Amino acid sequence: MRYFIQSFLLVFLLSQTSTVKAGEGMWLPIFLKALNEQEMQHMGMKISAEDIYSVNKSSLKDAIVHFGGFCTGEIISDQGLILTNHHCGYSNIQSHSTIENNLLKDGYWSQSFDEELPNPGLFVTFIESIEDVTKKALLGTNDQMSAVERQSTIDKNLENIRAGYRLAEFHEIIIRPFYNGNQYFLFHTVKYNDVRLVGTPPESIGKFGADTDNWVFPRHTGDFSLFRVYAGPNNEPAAYSPDNKPFTPKHSLPISLDGVEEGDFTMVFGFPGRTNQYLPSPAVEQIINTLNPAKIEIRDKALKILDKRMRAEPEVRLKYASKFARVANYWKKWIGESQGLKSSNALKKKYTLEKEYAQNAPKDFKNIVQEFKTLYGEIEPYALARDFYSETTSRNIEILRQIRNIQRLVTTYEENGEEEYKALVERYIPYFENFYKDYEPELDQEVFAALTAFYVESLDKEFIPEELTREFLFMRALRDFNGLAKYMYSNSTFPTEEKFIAVLGKEPAEAVELIKKDPLYTLYTSWNGLYTKAISAPYNHYKTQIDSLQRLYMKGQMLTFKDKRFWPDANSTMRVTYGKVNGYNPRDAVRYLPFSYVEGIMEKYVPGDYEFDVPKKLVKLIETKNYGQYADETGSVPVCFIGTNHTTGGNSGSPAIDAYGNLIGLNFDRVWEGTMSDINYDSSICRNIMVDARYVLFLVDKLGGATRLIDEMKLVRPKTGLRSKK
Ligand code: ARG
Ligand code: GLU
Repeated sequence: MRYFIQSFLLVFLLSQTSTVKAGEGMWLPIFLKALNEQEMQHMGMKISAEDIYSVNKSSLKDAIVHFGGFCTGEIISDQGLILTNHHCGYSNIQSHSTIENNLLKDGYWSQSFDEELPNPGLFVTFIESIEDVTKKALLGTNDQMSAVERQSTIDKNLENIRAGYRLAEFHEIIIRPFYNGNQYFLFHTVKYNDVRLVGTPPESIGKFGADTDNWVFPRHTGDFSLFRVYAGPNNEPAAYSPDNKPFTPKHSLPISLDGVEEGDFTMVFGFPGRTNQYLPSPAVEQIINTLNPAKIEIRDKALKILDKRMRAEPEVRLKYASKFARVANYWKKWIGESQGLKSSNALKKKYTLEKEYAQNAPKDFKNIVQEFKTLYGEIEPYALARDFYSETTSRNIEILRQIRNIQRLVTTYEENGEEEYKALVERYIPYFENFYKDYEPELDQEVFAALTAFYVESLDKEFIPEELTREFLFMRALRDFNGLAKYMYSNSTFPTEEKFIAVLGKEPAEAVELIKKDPLYTLYTSWNGLYTKAISAPYNHYKTQIDSLQRLYMKGQMLTFKDKRFWPDANSTMRVTYGKVNGYNPRDAVRYLPFSYVEGIMEKYVPGDYEFDVPKKLVKLIETKNYGQYADETGSVPVCFIGTNHTTGGNSGSPAIDAYGNLIGLNFDRVWEGTMSDINYDSSICRNIMVDARYVLFLVDKLGGATRLIDEMKLVRPKTGLRSKK
């Protein structure tokens, strides 16, 4: 009886946590056994924590790679085949594309190993092992030390830890702070530098729905591409060589043809970039009220200008499609994030938590939130100016971003002399040519006018460089910022390729002199100098204090809420997140089902459209229902599905894994209403979006005809036989 009550209680407690917040958290693989295994199994997982992460035997983690350092990929065959997103492989696919042989437009399916295309610079990293090194890292530190003193003690400790390793080539030890610097973990990594492009669907599938559908469900995007890891002799990492052989992994993920259904357990394994779940309310207020609105408005102005021209001129649209997508991606995310923070009452939740914290925290930790209020008040003007500066000069006005490189030419000449200058010019010329290929100076001039005007109108005098002041305009007899833009762009050589390349063709001394007299160059250097002195110096001063306080606040929360499981904010290290396949209510009276199907592609189809066109061959396959073994029990092929897995940027390309450890899909996005999950995860509305593995296989097989790839994968049916077929 006692046992019964106990296990009843346990189940009750577990079901409480799973209904309250099943899904929250990006967990460290080494702690799954202690913190998560029980809950995961209760949610339906059939494997053990040891099957996911083990140093003694091969485990799921051996099939997961950090792809290029910015995305995730997974090994899906015993010959090193890698699956990742189309948007993760995009620049490599683009680099193999020409007008005559356009892989982006037409897709690509290599027919043999010989046709797999090398990608200089691209790498994947495996994790050999993870270790808690907190004690050694924090040796000799205490909470009374200054931030600088503490950091230099830690830096020395980390150096000592690293010195204890003798590493083979391509192996690396990475040590990162966790829980805002309260803990340190070590990652032993192995890097493979020969990664080749194996296959990709055409962009009209890999990016189907483009910006309109980005961050949105229902979704119908086939966001995947295939690469392969190659290794040198003995399967060891090696630089690219035609003699390298396909890599034999310790583990590769079997792919399930049975898929999942609503309520099923799912897990996502990968390298999430950054989250800020433990911020105090003044920080979240600042994001909602000040920083997000500013960044959104700046991008809004730039995007409107681009959009107008892109709609009118197909040539401009072609040149700017990818730049537009890059700027629009986070613009749209921030809008969703701000709305989500408001609609989920994130601030109210923070206030409640902080009240409880203030009542129960140990004496030395009680007043932290008050101190944050002061510090966030002090940093605000600098934080705002910092965002304005970087959005304006390095995100949206294209020519200003180029001047960073031009400035490097000048400093190289002045510091290292003519020879090095000439060598750098040689190296930069192809880079500049590439820039001008997709550059429209008049368009950039319009963006310049709008954004400099907005900068001046929004910020205090102390943040405005001389060249953007009324006095400057007056002296040059310029009426407004349109006049200033015109003056800058017509008197500078940078906006016009021929003019600038001609400058680079001159004798070094003369070229450098011309560059230094260029009005856009003087504007940039004066603005940048002001930024360093008046914006980033005070910003860093307060930020260091905020970071120290955040470390204490994190520690205080862990001391105060002893029963709570804390997960460390994402920091581009390997994590596991898990949840369930689940639809959601985006707004009153509307419910989204968790699966989309290929028929939905045809509902969105707009022939010739740059977002919603569909390749003829796919139309035909869908019309004739030529689905082969890839249809589910409804007779159709699922395209995308959503779940409560807690993901963020960097989880792109992460495998979605079922209860048995099989691949069921590929993570690539989140739903718009839930993008606030970086700051305030809420399981009622936060969903990640995955491409269904069956849609991927269907495309590889039926559209690409790449049966050689299907043959090397291991396709499984873990559920068939377990459930009665409908
Ligand atoms: N929103 C997804 C991710 O952050 C996909 C981005 C690529 N697609 C696009 N249309 N921009 O970052
Ligand atoms: N698309 C994102 C990426 O590139 C993943 C989606 C997200 O931010 O959740 O990593």
